[in-house]
Amino acid sequence: MKVTVVGAGAVGASCAEYIAIKDFAAEVVLVDIKEGFAEGKAMDLMQCASLNGFDTKITGATNNYAATAGSDVAVITSGIPRKPGMTREELIGINAGIVKTVSSSILEHSPNAIIIVVSNPMDTMTYLVHKSTNIPKNRIIGMGGALDSARFKYRLSEALGCPASDVDGMVIGGHSDTGMVPLIEKATRNSVNVSEFLDAARMDEIVQATKVGGATLTGLLGTSAWYAPGAAVSEIVKAIALDSQKMIPCSALLDGEYNLSGLCIGVPCIIGKNGIERIVEVSLSDAEKAHMQSSAEGVSKTNALLN
Ligand code: LAC
Repeated sequence: MKVTVVGAGAVGASCAEYIAIKDFAAEVVLVDIKEGFAEGKAMDLMQCASLNGFDTKITGATNNYAATAGSDVAVITSGIPRKPGMTREELIGINAGIVKTVSSSILEHSPNAIIIVVSNPMDTMTYLVHKSTNIPKNRIIGMGGALDSARFKYRLSEALGCPASDVDGMVIGGHSDTGMVPLIEKATRNSVNVSEFLDAARMDEIVQATKVGGATLTGLLGTSAWYAPGAAVSEIVKAIALDSQKMIPCSALLDGEYNLSGLCIGVPCIIGKNGIERIVEVSLSDAEKAHMQSSAEGVSKTNALLN
């Protein structure tokens, strides 16, 4: 499998690193507009091959999409990240133009690529790729839910005092501070509902901390996070490469699922060699349905700014 990662900043480089470390792809091409930057990141990462034990070949290219030709998957991380105090939605003006240009350059050289969108505001950027490229909807995947669910599991494991491998949970809805819908009623520790271990106030704290997970890190780091976003992307790419039919919450174009249409928002997706193989409609409680509805309204409002 050949994977292109556009944007060799912290998130893009982290995507390339985790994809390589998991050692399922033949080749990763990093692309950046800054002269020599992607080449430098690629070389630095390749010098880890003998240390970290991977055979994936990583190369870099300065704004040269010919080098990406024949990619099976392309990850778009380009654009500006948020600074402390900014919402993801505030990035739309600059990032929309970048994401549109990048997706068309990718498809010019890799017409069959599956596109994974990371740039923010992620649900709206995913929708923009649908609108501007017209490729089949299974081939456009927004990364947010995979990341938000990992942050949810981190918060659950912290509250439960157990390893993250003990907990299971999913976040659906929009990838924004107000839009995320952590499905805490369904979260479990080794199949036991977490409500058996945690009181309602603690559960609410977990939900709130999950929703502002990105903003908390932006406050600490001075810029957007990169390790977990990169790892989340690598899990989606791996599910495509191995055709594993793994259920991962991703931003997908909806057509009636969850009573929503004409927007991209986080829902559980089965990921395989065709990208989004299908959307899974899980039953939601009345509270979860109401959260999903208001989340969709928020995403639609941001989508309207595209015009
Ligand atoms: C975050 C960015 C990637 O949540 O949206 O860290």
